[in-house]
Amino acid sequence: MAGRIRQEDIEAVRERTDILKLVGGYLTLKKAGHDSFVGICPFHQEKTPSLSVSPTKGVYHCFGCGAGGDAIRFLREIESLDFVEAVERLAGDAGIALRYEGESPADRRAASRRQALYDANDRAAELYRRTLAEAREGAEARAYLESRGIDGEAATTFGVGYAPMYADFLLRRLSPRFSPELLVEAGLAVRDAGGTIRDRFRGRITFPVHDLSGHAVGLGARQLPREDAGASGPKYLNSPETPVYRKGEMLYNLNRAKPAVARSGEAFVVEGYTDVIALHQAGVETAVATCGTALSEGHFRLLSRFARRAVLSFDSDEAGARAAERAYAFHERFDLDAVVLVLPEGQDPADFVRAHGGDAFRELAGGAVPLVEYMVRRTLSAHDASSVEGRSRAVRAALPVVSGLTDPIRREEYAHLLADLVGVSDTSVMLELERAGRSGRVAVRSGEEGGPQAADSGTPARLSPQHRAEREMLKLLVQDAEVYGELADRLREEHFDRAQHRRLFALLRERGTDVRGMVSEEEDERLASALSALAVEATLGEGPSYAAHVHQRLEELLLDRRIDAIRRSLQKLNPVTSPDYEPLFEELIALEGDRRRIRDRSAS
Ligand code: UTP
Ligand code: MN
Repeated sequence: MAGRIRQEDIEAVRERTDILKLVGGYLTLKKAGHDSFVGICPFHQEKTPSLSVSPTKGVYHCFGCGAGGDAIRFLREIESLDFVEAVERLAGDAGIALRYEGESPADRRAASRRQALYDANDRAAELYRRTLAEAREGAEARAYLESRGIDGEAATTFGVGYAPMYADFLLRRLSPRFSPELLVEAGLAVRDAGGTIRDRFRGRITFPVHDLSGHAVGLGARQLPREDAGASGPKYLNSPETPVYRKGEMLYNLNRAKPAVARSGEAFVVEGYTDVIALHQAGVETAVATCGTALSEGHFRLLSRFARRAVLSFDSDEAGARAAERAYAFHERFDLDAVVLVLPEGQDPADFVRAHGGDAFRELAGGAVPLVEYMVRRTLSAHDASSVEGRSRAVRAALPVVSGLTDPIRREEYAHLLADLVGVSDTSVMLELERAGRSGRVAVRSGEEGGPQAADSGTPARLSPQHRAEREMLKLLVQDAEVYGELADRLREEHFDRAQHRRLFALLRERGTDVRGMVSEEEDERLASALSALAVEATLGEGPSYAAHVHQRLEELLLDRRIDAIRRSLQKLNPVTSPDYEPLFEELIALEGDRRRIRDRSAS
């Protein structure tokens, strides 16, 4: 897009935006005074409303977390937009044509072309919607939707329509405002080999797709099952890519779902339009779908603006595996936890909620498996772990999933999981992992099963991420004098949650890193052996930057614990009568700010 928006247009956007309507789109507002409405603040966790909106001043403010500003600020915050994007969105809603400094005639032409494509899609969707709702030609489609359990209300909400069989239904009705050429460019019509232009969608149920600003950008269209003739063409026919419809960056229903997604932090990514609608009818409003295209990095980028957790909800293990594999390639680039939910064989989310309801679906989703764990488990399921050789093959097969992770802590965590699942020692998996890392590929093990067996007494208990990070730090302190010099004074006992680790850290800080004889066996057998283990166990990385990474992780985990503790205390206090509430709340906000800064730093 062109450069800066003219100041006077920005002012016009501010003036003409109804902040009450804007904020009210994301949360429920109640009148509280002649110029004030209150609601639950979407920017922090709370149970009693502390966000207040003044419609005449055009501002909002939260007395809980201090968030506040004008309409542009609100939209920026809630949808993670930059200033220009937010102004453009509000201008679109208010019907203001923005002018840009230094905008060229070519820029202006491109912008008006885009607008024409939105308009054509919007008109087409509306025409189809009316045909479904009212026309004689829509009767069969109405009956079909009814048989699928999509009621009139849901059809209206989603703008579901019906494109009749005629080859020039749309072409005629949209003319002369929209030329056949424009309809071809919009993907609504096609030109055949002979040069004849006709409607793309015929005899199909239509599902309009909207971008985040609510512009109609394309359609998905399902064939109506017919008794006569063998149905022709694919089950779903979708709009092609156009200048306003890039499927890799478009999620069906995200425009409607985003407030609920932002509120709950979670989105369900499903495969089909009908899944989204069925979930909506079952009260699950946070479902979005890819539009007949494979899950991509662009989809994740989009989702990560609103959600912290994406539940990939797929019809079959096969489809789930494909999506998981794709997501694996880019998931680490986004602050979004991906989990995989595979439904009972032969069911898609729509079937499932119709049979069992929305609550059962949510419950099932609670058991969704983290992406990497899912991939490890799936790989292992193809192997027989009842023999030594089988276990060795299983570990080798699944190792690339683990070694491909860039975060060393996750790599270690999942290595331990892999060991647990196969039933081999942690050490052997770690060795294998190290070897894979060194040679740049996964090494093949050659019959030396003996070594690590001593450690393999039963299934090793899995340590939490917290405890693993602590242990990693202790090893670094003992093994690397530079790290010790750099970090021993900057770490505090509270960074270590586990009692034994706290003792070890205190000892190291007090007495240095020469662990020989620091504690004798007679004095404390377990402490002594823990110290020597720290000195010899391999770390997952080395050097100051790795140590800094682990340090940062400990900081973050400490903040997590403190934030949780404050949250728990706050929940027991009455925000109005308790004098402790305010100061605690302030502290919570400050800590959350710290955590955000740490996360931003580690993301960059
Ligand atoms: P499904 O075959 O699972 O369809 O395809 P569905 O959504 O469950 O629909 P019903 O229940 O049969 O009506 C899932 C998605 O894959 C894309 C569409 O986006 C569809 O919603 N798809 C499927 C296509 O693009 N083309 C096809 O031919 C089939
Ligand atoms: Mn399906």
